[in-house]
Amino acid sequence: MNQTPAMLESNHIPWDITDERREAYAVSSRLSQLARKQAERRASERPQATLSVRYDPNEEMPRLNSNGVRVLSLFSGGGGLDLGFDRSGFEHVASYDVLDFAGDTLRHNKPDWTVYSGKDGDVTRVDWRKYKGKVDLLHGGPPCQPFSIAGRRNGQLDGRDMFPEFLRAVHAIQPRAFVIENVLGFLSQKFSGYRDRILQELSAEYSLTSFVLSAKDFGVPQDRRRAIIVGSLRKSKRSFDAALIPTSTIKRGVRSALGLNEAGFDGLAPTLRCTLTGPRQTTSIANSTASVAKWAELGIWPHGVSPSRSLAASFPTRDGTYRLCVEECQVLQGFPLSWEFQGAVYQRLGLIGNSVCPPVAYSLGSSIHDQLFSD
Ligand SMILES: C[S@@+](CC[C@H](N)C(=O)[O-])C[C@H]1O[C@@H](n2cnc3c(N)ncnc32)[C@H](O)[C@@H]1O
Repeated sequence: MNQTPAMLESNHIPWDITDERREAYAVSSRLSQLARKQAERRASERPQATLSVRYDPNEEMPRLNSNGVRVLSLFSGGGGLDLGFDRSGFEHVASYDVLDFAGDTLRHNKPDWTVYSGKDGDVTRVDWRKYKGKVDLLHGGPPCQPFSIAGRRNGQLDGRDMFPEFLRAVHAIQPRAFVIENVLGFLSQKFSGYRDRILQELSAEYSLTSFVLSAKDFGVPQDRRRAIIVGSLRKSKRSFDAALIPTSTIKRGVRSALGLNEAGFDGLAPTLRCTLTGPRQTTSIANSTASVAKWAELGIWPHGVSPSRSLAASFPTRDGTYRLCVEECQVLQGFPLSWEFQGAVYQRLGLIGNSVCPPVAYSLGSSIHDQLFSD
């Protein structure tokens, strides 16, 4: 039904609108209710110029002694899996990522690592046979856009689908074990045929365990779940049991992690968006309207993330909610402040939002070591 000017003027909502439109009205009404509540709470929020972060992810991933297990990292991004495996004692062989600023980040934080980025980091160009006998564990999160709810979900038809490349590396190197990480979308019914073909191909030589890990179970103050597949060479006669992965007893909320004012409410951050996904460069970490509403409930503004705490403080939000800076986002992802991301703000946020939370990788790594590599 066409709306008359009088209807528009009076905000009249006709009963025969589409479900989509109805949903949009519901979300917008919820947002204005939240904005009202925020206005009431505003007085308690003071923009602060220095970081008051109270959560140090390193406390939950104490550095373990070297376990001698050699690990090669594909699609390394900003180093979530790399950092977690490193702190749990694995010996780093090399990292590969096609993005220059991913390579810059890894080199900056780990000057002694071998890191390939840009053209040299493009996995499609590498002859993996040179690593045969030199790598015990291969890990990687092939780009998730083809399977992500945020993308068009073209699966293997998407040019960015890199699963075949991961499989090529596994076949050439024949590591004793591997870890694949991806978004939950990869486990959805829509991709069952493709997924089954991948798993079937790998299961000829590897015993496979697929499961989902939730970042909040590892002390990370974020609602973030990822699909994981662990493969263990059949001839090693060991297989991985996900139920044995140690979890954290600590459950934290965003406000407490960032050291914000006690406001009488707190909760997990919604999944941080990868700002590299989509046609536009953005500095918003909100990945859906529902997540915008959740951030509002937390008294936090998820758009226009600032490069630093002092800049965030000098640019208060109009509704009085708390403006985040990049370092706070990295803490909400489980990266310690000592890990310094490189690149423009949207690139740093992209690496953060694309990563496996390091405390998740740490626990997964130590459990893989105990179950598949220890005597
Ligand atoms: C999901 S992210 C991986 C995140 C990483 N595992 C972590 O924990 O931080 C996927 C990465 O694959 C990289 N990538 C995409 N195509 C690639 C290619 N052809 N060669 C190497 N890396 C590629 C992207 O640049 C992106 O950083």
